[in-house]
Amino acid sequence: MAQTTITLLDIIALVLAAIHFGVPLTYYYYMKTKYLNKPWNIKIDPNYQPKITIIIPTYNEAKLIQQKLDNIYEQEYPREKLEIIVIDSASTDGTPEKVKQWVMRHPDIKITLLQEPIRRGMVPALNYALKHVPKDNELVIFTDADAFWEQDTLKHVTKYFADPSIGAVTTCIAPLEEKDKYLETTYRNYYNIIRIGESKIHSTPIHNGALIAFRKELLEKIGGLPTYTGNNDSTPASLIAFMGYRVVQIDDTTVKEPLRCNQLRRKIRRAQHLILHFIHTKCYAKKLGIYRRSQFDNIWRIENLLHLVNPWLLIIASSLLVTSLLLYKSMITLTLLIIGVMLLLYKHFRVWIFNQLYLVIASIRNIKTKEISWAK
Ligand code: GDD
Ligand code: MN
Repeated sequence: MAQTTITLLDIIALVLAAIHFGVPLTYYYYMKTKYLNKPWNIKIDPNYQPKITIIIPTYNEAKLIQQKLDNIYEQEYPREKLEIIVIDSASTDGTPEKVKQWVMRHPDIKITLLQEPIRRGMVPALNYALKHVPKDNELVIFTDADAFWEQDTLKHVTKYFADPSIGAVTTCIAPLEEKDKYLETTYRNYYNIIRIGESKIHSTPIHNGALIAFRKELLEKIGGLPTYTGNNDSTPASLIAFMGYRVVQIDDTTVKEPLRCNQLRRKIRRAQHLILHFIHTKCYAKKLGIYRRSQFDNIWRIENLLHLVNPWLLIIASSLLVTSLLLYKSMITLTLLIIGVMLLLYKHFRVWIFNQLYLVIASIRNIKTKEISWAK
């Protein structure tokens, strides 16, 4: 370690790192201070109670499905305005039988079980289920079998649809477990603030399949769920936002998801879906002929950069530092690298870095497999 000068590579790395951390942090604080607590400026009517079809896609959910149906049954919402569709794709663990048992015990709610003979993936299954939604039902809600709602969640979701500009609504999500394993709570808190801020401006491009409610006619206008990303939430919602409607994450109800054992795989797969979403959805909206300019474009642009470009700045900056150290063996480079590693002790920094890595791994995995129908 002879040298103590800062190398050109170090300087470039520092600039890239400053952009990498500075842009999202500025965006986060901007959302938090300027928009998070703003009024919605739309008509919100707690008495607005339209007819709803709730669609639950299942593949091997025997352990959870009855609990999930109980959870919907317990909603504070007029039962005659609800209809449930469970669409199962050839589960091998007896999920349909569990549904049938539940149906027998609950004759006072309308529920249909649809069964596909082979598994084609969640999105094709949901498109099939959409064909069975009654004509006069105004809203369609998709909800994962492992997502648990608060008793008044439906009431909160529907009141926003009283305003005709609202095209889709999603809720905040949090892990079911108290203990912050995998730092999921930290991650969720950070993202919920950004999502709500963006929603107050116009719309957020990232939604949650734990609960996403759509105005049915708008789903029809985009021709059902597109199949290029494998998600049933962010992609259809953003298409609707590109039509000029608002697709928002609301701040008065939270849906809980249990952590499952293959959490890492799940995060990478969701990142893969998001990357495909950011690459293709705006073009797809234009192709469908539904695209209209709005404030959503600015939000889209920044989230696009944050998901597609920003993670790579971190990778390039770290690689430059390592190269610089190997070439010039400067104490300054070594100190910078040590500071970077030490910062990993700080929880928020760690969560951030992990999420950047998921996005990078996801981009690489997308070259090989799109995970449109995923292993369970
Ligand atoms: N019918 C059917 N067919 N349902 C399926 C299939 C299938 O081939 N594959 C998965 N599902 C069901 C699951 O049983 C569950 O209810 C829901 O789809 C979500 O699947 P999970 O395996 O729990 O995946 P996830 O929670 O990581 O998926 C999330 O991310 C996606 C975006 O990447 C969910 O929030 C999805 O809704 C979201 O689109
Ligand atoms: Mn899930």
